[in-house]
Amino acid sequence: MKLIFLGPPGAGKGTLAARAVDILGIPHISTGAIFRSAIAAQSPLGLKVKAVIDAGKLVDDETTIELVKERLSRGDLPRGYILDGFPRTIAQAEALETFSAVDRVVNFDLPDSAVLERLGGRRVCRNCGINYHIVFNKPREEKICDACGGEVYARDDDREEAVAKRLEVYRSQTAPLIGFYREKGLLVDVDAQPEANTVVENFKKALGL
Ligand code: AP5
Ligand code: MG
Repeated sequence: MKLIFLGPPGAGKGTLAARAVDILGIPHISTGAIFRSAIAAQSPLGLKVKAVIDAGKLVDDETTIELVKERLSRGDLPRGYILDGFPRTIAQAEALETFSAVDRVVNFDLPDSAVLERLGGRRVCRNCGINYHIVFNKPREEKICDACGGEVYARDDDREEAVAKRLEVYRSQTAPLIGFYREKGLLVDVDAQPEANTVVENFKKALGL
C-alpha cells in the first residue's frame, strides 16, 4: 500500500507512522527526518536546508522532489511506503503523480491549540528519531531514549516563532492538498486529537483494516 500522511505540524504523523510500520509492514519515509539527518551529518544537502528548516519555512520544491524521486526509485519498496511530510505543495503533489501512484492520503486533523501543546513539549531522539513528549509520552529516564539510549532533545524548529511560521506555511501551502486529494477520491480523514492508541484505532478504521 502506498500512503501519504498529511496534516499540520505536530498532528502526530511521525508518531502514528512508527505504529503503522508494524501494522502494515511497509517503510516510513519522512522528508523532515531525511533533512534532519543531512543537517546532523553536515552534508551539502544539510548545509543547504538548515536555515530554512530552523525558520519554519519549506525547502524549495526542486530539491525536495528530487530527493523523494531518488528515494522511491531505489527498488526496495515492493509492498509500498508511508510518505510522511511529502507532498507539501500542489507542485510537489503534481510531480509525485509522474513517478508514483498513491493508494490513499490520510489527513490528520488537529486544531492549532493542540498543535502548540504537542510541539512545545515534543522531544526527539538525536540518534534514532523516536518522538517523545514531556507530558504525554516521557522517556523512562529524562533526556535518554528508551529504545537506543541516544540523547533526547528539542528540535530547533519547535521554538515558538518557528512553530507559528510552520502553521502559517501549512495553511497557505499544504492545506490546499486536502481538496486536491479529496477531488481525486483518495482522501481519508483521521481525528488526531485523542490519545495515541485511539488515533491508531481511528487510522485502522479509516483504512478498513
Ligand atoms: P517535518 O519533520 O515533516 O515536520 P512537520 O510536518 O512540521 O511535522 P512534525 O514532525 O513537526 O509533526 P508530526 O505530525 O510528525 O508529529 P509528531 O508525531 O512528532 O518537517 C520539518 C521541516 O522540514 C519542515 O518545516 C520543512 O522545512 C522541511 N520539509 C519537510 N518536508 C518537506 C517538503 N515536502 N517540502 C518542503 N520542505 C519540507 O508528534 C508531535 C508531538 O506530539 C510529539 O511530542 C508526540 O509525542 C506527541 N503526540 C503525537 N501523537 C499524540 C497523541 N495522539 N496524543 C498526545 N500526544 C501526541
Ligand atoms: Mg514528524
